[in-house]
Amino acid sequence: MKETLERIRQEALSALEGTQAIQELETLRVKYLGKKGELTAVLKQMGKLSAEERPVVGQLANEVRATLERAIDTASQNLEKAALEARLKAEAVDVTIPGKAAVLGRRHPMYTALSEIEHIFVGMGFTVLDGPEIELATYNFDKLNAEEGHPSRDWSDTFYFDQDSRVMLRSQTSPMQVRAMESMSLPIRIIAPGRVYRKDEVDATHSPMFHQVEGMVIDKDVTMADLKGTLNLLAEQLFGKGTVTRFRPHHFPFTEPSCEMDVQCHKCGGVGCPTCKGEGWIELLGAGMIHPNVLRMAGIDPEEYSGWAFGMGLERTAMRRFKIADLRLIFENDVRFLEQF
Ligand code: DAH
Repeated sequence: MKETLERIRQEALSALEGTQAIQELETLRVKYLGKKGELTAVLKQMGKLSAEERPVVGQLANEVRATLERAIDTASQNLEKAALEARLKAEAVDVTIPGKAAVLGRRHPMYTALSEIEHIFVGMGFTVLDGPEIELATYNFDKLNAEEGHPSRDWSDTFYFDQDSRVMLRSQTSPMQVRAMESMSLPIRIIAPGRVYRKDEVDATHSPMFHQVEGMVIDKDVTMADLKGTLNLLAEQLFGKGTVTRFRPHHFPFTEPSCEMDVQCHKCGGVGCPTCKGEGWIELLGAGMIHPNVLRMAGIDPEEYSGWAFGMGLERTAMRRFKIADLRLIFENDVRFLEQF
C-alpha cells in the first residue's frame, strides 16, 4: 500500500509539471483526490491493514494528499500568473507613439467682433441681453412708434407668421429696447445682440438673415452728448485710436432727433475708393434720442427720464474690422476663409 501511495505521489507530481491549462489541473485533482480518485480508493482499503500498519499508512496518505493539494494550488497560481502576463503583453499600449493632434476650430470673425463689442460695453457698465427672434409686431413696431402703414411693416419687407400680421420674425433688435424698459428698473444700460430677418435677396451686402447689436441708455439728464461720446469711444476701441466718425441727421420712428454714424474709410482715409464706394465714409449704425412716445408707452415719464439708443449691423462691423469685402463670406463657412482669422 505504501508503494501504491508513493506511485500516486510520483505520477501525480509529474503529471502536474506538464499541465498547460487550469482545466487540466481540475481533471488531475478529480483523478487523484476526488471521491472516486486513486488516493481515496487507497484509503478505502485501510480496513484491511493491521493495527500497526494503519497509522503509518494513514500518515503517509495524509502527507501525499497535502503534497498534492499544495502542488495543485501552486500550479494553478503559476498558470494564472502566466495567463495575466500574456494578456498584459498582448494588450500593451506603446505610450511613446506620438499622439494625433486634435484639430481645434477657430472663432468665427463675426463672433470675435461681437465679443469685442460686448467687452467694450460691459466695461462701461452695460448688461448684455438676449431676446426672442419670433416677435410680436407690437414690440417690433407699435411700441417703437412705427404705426400701421409704416413702410417697414409691409409684407414685402417682413416675414409674418399669420394673416393679420401680428407674429413675425423680428426685423430689428430694437424690440429689445421695449422689453428692457418693461422688465428692468431704471436707470438702464443694455446692449442686445441677435439675429434679425428681412425679405432681401442675397448679394455682396444683403442677406435675409443678419445680425444687429442694439444698445440703450435711460437715466436722468441723458443727452445727445452722451450718445456721441459713447459711440465715438466704441469706434476708437473697435477700429483703433484716431478713428474719425461723423454723425448725419436721419429719421427713425423711435428716436427724435435721429442720426446715422459713419466711420471714415480705413482704405482711402476719406478721399473715396471702391471699398467705400467713392464716399470716403462707411455707415456703421443708426442712433438717436429715444422718442418721448416710446418712453411713455413703456410707462416711463419723458419729463423725468431721457435716453439714447443705437442699432448697428454686426456683419458690417466685422467686415470693416477684418477688412472682408463680401457679406456672403460670413455665412458660407468656407474653412479656407475662416482659417484666416
Ligand atoms: N433698428 C434700426 C434699423 O434696423 C437701427 C436703429 C436706429 C436702432 C436708431 C436704434 C436707433 O436703436 O436708435 O435700421
